[in-house]
This record gives sequence, structure tokens and C-alpha cells, in this order.
Amino acid sequence: MDAVTLTLRPADADDFDEIVKLSEGIYAGHDYLPLMFRQWLQRDNVVVILAHCGVRLVGLRANFVVDDGRTLIHRAGRVHPDYRGQGIFKQVGEHSIKHAKEHYPNLQRKRFTSIGDTEIPDPRKLFELHVEAYHVEKEFCDKLKATVLTNSMEIKTCAPDYFANIIESLPARLFTRNSILSNWCPFERLRSNVDHILRESTELYVEKCDDDVIPNSLSVGTLSPRVKYKQWVAEVYADSPDLFQAHIVHQLKRACELINDDFIFIFTMQDESLSSLLRIIMKDQLQFKTADFYHNKTLRVYEMDITEKSHR
Ligand SMILES: CC(C)(COP(=O)(O)OP(=O)(O)OC[C@H]1O[C@@H](n2cnc3c(N)ncnc32)[C@H](O)[C@@H]1OP(=O)(O)O)[C@@H](O)C(=O)NCCC(=O)NCCS
Repeated sequence: MDAVTLTLRPADADDFDEIVKLSEGIYAGHDYLPLMFRQWLQRDNVVVILAHCGVRLVGLRANFVVDDGRTLIHRAGRVHPDYRGQGIFKQVGEHSIKHAKEHYPNLQRKRFTSIGDTEIPDPRKLFELHVEAYHVEKEFCDKLKATVLTNSMEIKTCAPDYFANIIESLPARLFTRNSILSNWCPFERLRSNVDHILRESTELYVEKCDDDVIPNSLSVGTLSPRVKYKQWVAEVYADSPDLFQAHIVHQLKRACELINDDFIFIFTMQDESLSSLLRIIMKDQLQFKTADFYHNKTLRVYEMDITEKSHR
């Protein structure tokens, strides 16, 4: 097949309808792009690059720049089914990096996450997380107060200022590669990322402790609307099973309070052994059905060097 000639440019608000069309049918109703696109355009560190073949939109990539301008996070990518397998995704990716470097000359690496069944061969895999996902019905949220869901440890909401004060002092052992995931976006654990992390999340939590004590756990909860579903994404940083469980149970309650409708509750863990206890709560006690699009998948976090030396 002849190479396709592409016109590449940043997206603007008028491109919305075409982007919705390009995204149609993706991820079996779990697509987020049509719901996030307008919000992303408001952010000064996000660029969505579009690829047109003639007048037809055939591909896009959305990227965020974080970590003090050193990291490009690949957030979404689409290529029209008729145009896949011809290197379009790669071409848009290369253009996105070039465009981002004009504004962020210190860019060094690209990071992204994937839950695809196959590993992506080229970039370096940083780490992987086990994913569990359950359907929670509105009926459960309605009856929540009467449900026996107790927590042996108390969890509290972590205010933005408090989070900014503790982010770099939290125990390093909790964070593989010093990363905090928020809504599955991998951020470095830096104070300068606090606003980015807060924008990606709905609430953050720590175990109850005095304000002058550094907590031993953190979790990030995000209400993530999808085309056909609502999701609550929980990322927990705790190495004791009790604390891990306490955060998950607390987030389940908060998600019910805030969503009060059917939703999918998704959580990730570095140590799969932590999940056996939770499976007893989610499956046996609460009788939630698994959300198979995500359940038991592996979330892989990848990194690629994008400095000039990587092209020599
Ligand atoms: C994934 C998708 C964008 C690939 O588009 P494409 O134009 O056929 O891709 P290309 O021909 O450029 O080749 C695929 C390249 O992308 C890489 N790739 C595949 N899935 C990827 C992912 N989820 N994230 C990053 N890179 C990925 C491959 O490793 C390959 O790289 P290589 O050429 O260095 O080996 C396309 O199949 C698509 O739109 N799928 C549905 C949406 C989707 O799954 N998006 C994933 C990113 S959010």
C-alpha cells in the first residue's frame, strides 16, 4: 500500500465532532476521549495532534507534559480502522514529540500505560500492576448505610495543601519508580506535579493521623466518566494489607456517595497477594460481578528515551 500523506496540526474546539466520529465504537463503551477532549484543550500542558488525509481525520494523539517539563505522557491515541498498520500512529507520535519540544526544550522521555494483552516490544517497561474491576449497582449505593462494611483503620480525605506538603515526604518504599498514578497517568512524585495529579483525580486519601505526622499510606480516587459507563479508579499506595483494605473500602463508600448510580469500581495493586482478601469482600460478601473488560488485566507502565542521543 502507498504511504499515506498526512497533514499534522494541533486540535482546536471546532474539531470535536470529527474526533467523536473517529472514536466511535472504541473500547466497547469505555472510551473517555469524547468526554475529556474539551477539558484537555483548556489545559496549558496538553496538546492533541490531529492527522488528516485530505479532509478526513484519520488519527490523533493526546499528550500531557509533566515532571517539570521533562516527561511527555501519552494519554490517548486513535487511528481510523481503515488506516491502521501503515505507521500513522508512529508518525503522529514523532510529530507530537517535535511539537512538544518546541515548548518544552528539556523533554527527555515519553511515558504511557497500556492494558493491552500483548506487551509493546520497543519501549522499556518500568513496572506493571494487577487490575481488579467490579460492577457496583445503584441499589448497593442506596443501601450502603445498612451494609456491613467496616474499616479497622480510619481513612480521611487529604486536602490539596496537605498533599502538597507531604507528597515528597511519604515513605519512598510505597512508590515503585517514585511514580504516583492518578487515573492511570504515571507522574513522578514531585511537588511540582501536585496540580496535575489533583486535576486528574477526584479525591485523595491518607490514614487518619495527626497533621504533624507523615502518613504511611496514600490513595487516589478518580471518577472517570466513559461513553456508556461511569468508572471509579482507585490507586492505593500502602504496604500493609489492613491499610490497603481500609483505603479500598473507604473509596468504595466515597464512590457510592459521589456517583449514586451504577458504576465500575477499578483498583490497581503492585502486589497481587493483597487482592485475595479484597476478593472475599467484593465477590463473596458484596457479591459484585467482575467487569471483564478490565478485571484481572495487567496495567503496564512504559518509558522511552526521546532525547536527541536516542536517535543517534
Ligand atoms: C493502537 C493504534 C493507535 C495503532 O495505530 P496504527 O497507525 O495502526 O499504528 P502504527 O502502524 O503506527 O504501528 C503501531 C505502533 O504503535 C505501537 N503501539 C501499539 N499500541 C500502542 C499503545 N497502546 N500505546 C503506545 N504505542 C502502541 C506499536 O508498538 C507500534 O510501534 P512500532 O512501529 O515501533 O513497532 C490503532 O490500532 C487504534 O486506534 N486502536 C484503537 C485505539 C487504541 O487501542 N489506542 C491505543 C492508544 S490509547
